[in-house]
Amino acid sequence: MRLSVDGVAAEVDPRPGQCLRTLLREGGCTSVKKGCDTGDCGACTVLVDGAAVHSCLYPALRAAGREVTTAAGLAPAGELHPVAQRFVDAAGFQCGFCTPGMVVTAAALDEQQRADLDEHLKGNLCRCTGYRSVREAADGAELEPLPRSGPVGCAVSAPAAHRVVTGTEPYTLDLADGDVPPGLLHAAVLRSPHAHARVTAIDTSAAEALEGVHLVLTHRDSPPVLFSTGRHEDRLDDPDDTLVLDPVLRHHGQRVAVAVAESVALAEEALRRVVVRYEVLPAVLDPQLATAPGAPLLHADKDAAASRIADPGRNLVAELHSEVGDVAGALARAHAVVEGTWRTQRVSHVALETHAAVGWLDDGGRLVVRSSTQVPFLVRDELARVLGLGRDRVRVLAARVGGGFGGKQEMLTEDLVGLAVLRTGRPVQYETTRREALTALPTRHPMDVRVRLGARADGTLTALAVDLLSDAGAYGNHSPGVMFHSVHESVATYRCANKRVDARAVYTNSVPSGAFRGYGLGQVVFALESALDELARELGLDPFELRRRNVVVPGDRFVATSDPALTGVDDGLRFGSYGLDQCLDLVQRELPLGGEPVPEGPRWRTGSGIALSMIATVPPRGHFADASARLLPDGTWELAVGTAEFGNGTTTVHTQIAVQALGTTADRLRLRQADTDATSHDTGAFGSAGSVVAGRALLTACERLAARVRDLGAGLLGADPRTAVLEPGGVRCGRRLAALADVHDHALRTTGAAPSAEGRDDAALRSVAFNVQGFRVAVDTGTGEVRLLRSVHAVDAGTVLNPVQLRGQVEGGVAQAVGSALFEEVRRNPDGSPLTVSLREYRAPRITDLCDTLVLFADTYDEVGPLGAKSMSEAPYNPVAPALANAVFDAAGVRLRELPMSADRVWRALREQRGAQGAVGTARL
Ligand code: FES
Ligand code: FES
Repeated sequence: MRLSVDGVAAEVDPRPGQCLRTLLREGGCTSVKKGCDTGDCGACTVLVDGAAVHSCLYPALRAAGREVTTAAGLAPAGELHPVAQRFVDAAGFQCGFCTPGMVVTAAALDEQQRADLDEHLKGNLCRCTGYRSVREAADGAELEPLPRSGPVGCAVSAPAAHRVVTGTEPYTLDLADGDVPPGLLHAAVLRSPHAHARVTAIDTSAAEALEGVHLVLTHRDSPPVLFSTGRHEDRLDDPDDTLVLDPVLRHHGQRVAVAVAESVALAEEALRRVVVRYEVLPAVLDPQLATAPGAPLLHADKDAAASRIADPGRNLVAELHSEVGDVAGALARAHAVVEGTWRTQRVSHVALETHAAVGWLDDGGRLVVRSSTQVPFLVRDELARVLGLGRDRVRVLAARVGGGFGGKQEMLTEDLVGLAVLRTGRPVQYETTRREALTALPTRHPMDVRVRLGARADGTLTALAVDLLSDAGAYGNHSPGVMFHSVHESVATYRCANKRVDARAVYTNSVPSGAFRGYGLGQVVFALESALDELARELGLDPFELRRRNVVVPGDRFVATSDPALTGVDDGLRFGSYGLDQCLDLVQRELPLGGEPVPEGPRWRTGSGIALSMIATVPPRGHFADASARLLPDGTWELAVGTAEFGNGTTTVHTQIAVQALGTTADRLRLRQADTDATSHDTGAFGSAGSVVAGRALLTACERLAARVRDLGAGLLGADPRTAVLEPGGVRCGRRLAALADVHDHALRTTGAAPSAEGRDDAALRSVAFNVQGFRVAVDTGTGEVRLLRSVHAVDAGTVLNPVQLRGQVEGGVAQAVGSALFEEVRRNPDGSPLTVSLREYRAPRITDLCDTLVLFADTYDEVGPLGAKSMSEAPYNPVAPALANAVFDAAGVRLRELPMSADRVWRALREQRGAQGAVGTARL
């Protein structure tokens, strides 16, 4: 059949049943993205004869004779469509994976449709932005263009902006000719139908006999090396409890076999022919039951010490018990006591780009893997270990990554791809489906959190106790770290003489939990800040005032519990900066303003709530970044940074840092990143370290290079050569600049602590950021619907490196947290089999679900971070759920202790309240 794609006539031959998306992508049209297969995300949106369609639902055959337009073809090559330009000017993206689809959808709207914008954009999901900037880009109102270059503190656009909005920025599987050697094969995975089982027999002969099938891998092919999918600088942080393919299946969806074939369809057909015999084992899905005597044991076959599992005989991954003072005595003496248990659910990251990797052997026979990873160096090291290769025989690189939120701090695809490449000698690609992401890949840790608070009549906290049970799922990836972190800054936020923490992370036969934005803090903060709201009500105190009386302030001991070895903190620490007081003032001032319309009708009740959180902005157990800067003979500057860009904005911030330190402009910078061959070591893009750690390394490299160029230039030229390279005329100094090209300087090895060269007592200095969230909500007491009326979020991020970008990060964090507070849950049947298999059932927030968030900045300068900055990628998530729960209580008088606070749950709570009040004759609804 014939069709036109972006103005170019094409002759194609679609397969029976093929959708337009795969037809386009297989034809090299990578401006069309894939976020699902079910028409739920909009990433694949294209225009067919001018009408926006989701190309994954659109039969390829129907496009015969039609004009198909993608984001790349909206305007002539080299130009931007006005709507695409608006997405640049509004900074309407972060990872940008949703953006080509968004731009196409918005470009097709007429004026009347733009007046009802949310309704027409609700088919396009964005997981990063919170939609405010998308609205601004799509609504057609006048916009101030963003500059493309500027120093720290300026709102500049992302260096990749033009490519992102046209869909020409390559992501992991957007492969151009020559990126991968010819002969690409595809992998698909057979997954466990049981929560706990042993493979007793497996026959792959029928699968292998299928033409086009090159390999079927089973546990018999697995390297016998235990590892963890969770990646950290110190690989010993996580238990070694995982095999590439394991004969024991510990959760529904665990890998059973892998087929490698000429196409994904063939690989899937091969898997249907694999015959497996299972011995079904007893399973435990409830973390409370998992530690009870007689519970089925998941890792009894492991050596506890060698695998670093706290107690395989009790399904215990890790535990922490610590007390300062006398909590029981303080509770007994308290004027007011609040006690309750809060529960959080299993949540999926929903990075719009699913996990994917493609691997091949280079000319020297080295394994190369291009992966959607936040941690290329850590994956390289573990891949080499698992596959028995020298580290120098493996290269891992990342293109731009389409969102991560911690989920891509795991090795989930690279081991399979690496093994398949080594076995076949051919390039192999594995792209996980959205269904796999929702049913088999790590989620946020569900937690039960019991909080007990005691206070004097004036609100002074006298006792604070947290008892935590964290559901690790079937494997321990990130579970120790998440558990320690969850009870660390949350408990340290409040001054209190008597504190106690009891925390356990336990194995269950559920999909593994893993790293996720906030790294456990959000779960505990939900419980703690809800309990504080109850305490304020009991004491008749304003919630802001109760917090002001109890939060840590400069000069306080910064202590979570009594055991610094476990909590990673010590007495006598100083804050690198402190702006919590400002954040509280800002939210208290702004929350009552706004005048947003309130839904009409007798069933609606309105109310307000607040919550706060603190986060240490440098990972405590070692995060390293080596950056380098180089002056090239043509007068441009080359920067090399190991960290990856996945929507966290480090590329933009790093560019600004270099512009400032080198006195140049963004167009004279060349940034190499996220490639273990091309850059020096970087622990990776997690723990909000991209700005603080890698940014500091780059700043040091650039400052030292600038100084050396100045010195050298003064000697060579008798003038400042920096001026020469800044001006177009600088090229005239080409011969001398060539001499300067040898100036190549590595940064100080930059760790979480500030470099000691600056003469500070770094051990006593700690960088923490603060967030305060306020909501006004309306609750429909007839249906339980919670509607957001006003959202105000104040952040103490130190120096604001890029206000537009920081605002976007905060809005995105709030949006993601609203999703998990109100809607999102990965649900399953009682036997552990999945119930939530598509985005339609999962319910990530759409544009129609969210109001804009007013983002306010405290004015502080941090002594630790680069140029006074603190990180702010994960922190905005943490106070959102309790602020919402507190607002719901204020509005409707019901305390929601379980997430998500879905309409049915709120409705049930209201019904119970009505029942209770009716019994005493005080019904108010
Ligand atoms: Fe088509 Fe998600 S990829 S709607
Ligand atoms: Fe929208 Fe990342 S920018 S999904």
